[in-house]
Amino acid sequence: MTKKELLYEGKAKRLYTTDDPELLIAEFKDDLTAFNGEKHDQEAGKGALNNKISTELFKLLESAGIPTHFVDMPDENHMLVKKVDIILIEVVVRNIATGSLTKRLGIEDGTKLPFTLVEFYYKRDDLGDPLINDEHCIILDLVKNEGDLEELKRLGREINTILKAFFAKKGLNLVDFKVEFGYDSEGKIILADEISPDSCRFWDMETNEKLDKDRFRQGLGSVKVAYEEVLKRILGENK
Ligand code: C5P
Repeated sequence: MTKKELLYEGKAKRLYTTDDPELLIAEFKDDLTAFNGEKHDQEAGKGALNNKISTELFKLLESAGIPTHFVDMPDENHMLVKKVDIILIEVVVRNIATGSLTKRLGIEDGTKLPFTLVEFYYKRDDLGDPLINDEHCIILDLVKNEGDLEELKRLGREINTILKAFFAKKGLNLVDFKVEFGYDSEGKIILADEISPDSCRFWDMETNEKLDKDRFRQGLGSVKVAYEEVLKRILGENK
């Protein structure tokens, strides 16, 4: 399968059409951005690591019954995916309070939440991806049916259950993550985009070391070393 036209360029990926109208190729870039693009840098090899990590996690989730857009990883920087009609909602799932949640609500950083918190953010860079509720989603016409919002929450929680248990066996706390979904050619909601240390927070269970994009956001050093460690743990023996 070869890349044809550039369909879309995001902060961390480019999407290309292919010979098959139902399939796209995602190219993972080495760019790192934070604070809605205000902070920008590049780290050679970051894209390939996120591609590999996403591939492993999509395979894991598929095997546990979560439908995803993943088809194949033809090489280091590319992923073959099903074409979807992307839903403009970023679904954020949280186990431990940190990041924007602590800033917005004054909850102490590191507080274990009493239950899994699912939030919706409007995927709109020009508005800074604002937090929205179910009624905003309906007003903005972001889903085909109202029931789809429940399906997004259900899938978010289910993905959390699977990944949290998986990473616990690898000595990592899954603090929170962001996922995106789309409608496939049959109108079914499937997991899209990526799941990587760019979109998840991982804290080492013993040391609390951050092994994710917060290293870049907070200027804590190379992300590549941390992302390599995450991949090593994913591929390695359980702890
Ligand atoms: O910044 P905040 O605390 O809201 O982020 C929650 C989770 O969602 C983090 O894991 C972060 O990496 C992810 N996220 C993302 N893309 C965004 C916003 C947040 O991947 N645009």
